[in-house]
Amino acid sequence: MAASSADRLVLIASNRGPVSFTLGDDGRLSARRGGGGVVSGLSSVAERGNSLWVCAALSDADRAAARAAPDGRMSTDGTPGGPGVRMLDIPPAIFHRAYNAVANSTLWFVHHMLYDTPNRPDFGMTFAREWDSYRTYNQSFAEALAEDAGQAGPAPARAAVQDYHLTLVPRMLADLRPDVRIAHFSHTPWAPPDYYRMLPDDVGREVLDGILGADHAGFLCQRWADSFMDCCEAILGATVDRARQRVTHRGHVTGIGVHPLGVDAQELISRASEPDVQARVAALAEAAAGLKLIVRIDRTELSKNIVRGLVAYRELLATHPEWHGRVTHVAFAYPSRHDLPEYREYTARVQRLAREISDEFGTVDWDPLILAVDDDYARSLAAYRLADVLLVNPIRDGMNLVAKEGPILSERGCALVLSREAGAAAELAPDALMINPFDVSGTAQALHQALLMTDPERKSRSKSLARAAAALPPAQWFADQLAALDRGTG
Ligand code: G6P
Repeated sequence: MAASSADRLVLIASNRGPVSFTLGDDGRLSARRGGGGVVSGLSSVAERGNSLWVCAALSDADRAAARAAPDGRMSTDGTPGGPGVRMLDIPPAIFHRAYNAVANSTLWFVHHMLYDTPNRPDFGMTFAREWDSYRTYNQSFAEALAEDAGQAGPAPARAAVQDYHLTLVPRMLADLRPDVRIAHFSHTPWAPPDYYRMLPDDVGREVLDGILGADHAGFLCQRWADSFMDCCEAILGATVDRARQRVTHRGHVTGIGVHPLGVDAQELISRASEPDVQARVAALAEAAAGLKLIVRIDRTELSKNIVRGLVAYRELLATHPEWHGRVTHVAFAYPSRHDLPEYREYTARVQRLAREISDEFGTVDWDPLILAVDDDYARSLAAYRLADVLLVNPIRDGMNLVAKEGPILSERGCALVLSREAGAAAELAPDALMINPFDVSGTAQALHQALLMTDPERKSRSKSLARAAAALPPAQWFADQLAALDRGTG
């Protein structure tokens, strides 16, 4: 194994890249840098050395920019021909079937166990075509990576392939370029075998075999890694060594790693003290003067369980009238994946329920609920700063960074009501109030307990939560995966 060095090439592959474009009324493209922990974590390593980030064009504007740049090559600020990014101009029909139908409506639903099984899924002729597009889309990534991996030599390139959109890439790339060291990382949960078996058998096998083309497969917590290994054993008949965290299949060994992504606390704190956030802190403090704040912040995603969270809050108000006029629920539910009808319906349901709660309990001087569905990052940071209670109740979640960001920013210390089905539970359970996300009454009781928590207890728990949340910031998280890849499996 060659020694790692700063100038060894690192290839990153993900559906959503570090830059995206919008088309203005004047027909001009403008570039925007992607946000979020993963982008910053991957960028921090990528920007230091010799790297290339391969991503898909997601919109018409992205496709126009990718076409205008030589071979889709651009810098992270979108300058055509610059180094750092290669944006793949995948035909829209292929992209939509791969992204919406397979990645978001099938693999996402399987891993988050979201199906209403009497009705869905049904895998027929349409799905066969969608699956074929997913393969083509994965093949485009594998070919681009193979082409850009440079000469085979003593310091092989490393490829870090991200998430459920790109499960077939490791195998495809290994076939094209056996010299490249390949890592795959799953940012979602992994379904247990009984649920995973819902996928058509050949598809289920292809996904597992695809990831096992990698030398290292990473997960956010041990539970998801265990489910993956269980599927490899039960469905592929692979040899699983749980003690050494290795899977052997078709003569190749894949090391399994657990890398719990955390938050860059310093960066978050400094962003949350900027003037736009200060202004929103002032506005929210005024709107909620004298009230305790129960905060939730999510994308409007089926797995986030926003509806049951609101029902639990309604039950809290119904069963504990002593909180009337003393508490308000700040619920930010930002638009997500509106190409999928289920998501549009879900957003409408959240809005309906919020109106019902306000009508049922609101008075002239008390608003029991503040719901906002327009995306405003600065306002989210303001809400974290002022939260007394943070509600994070997903049905199932790979990690959930909200549960980690809240305690880092909260000024008075916040009590965390946390679903036991979130990956973050593995690290945060000792200082959170843990709930079963389907148990609405249990959630209502946990909210009540959280509101009653004494100041010293809340502050001390919140401090421990913040410490755990900052343990593995994104740059370290990514560097650890590269180190695991370099160590190899032998
Ligand atoms: C969440 C998940 C990631 C996933 C991303 C895709 O953040 O945790 O696993 O990659 O959603 O979101 P998008 O908006 O690109 O569909």
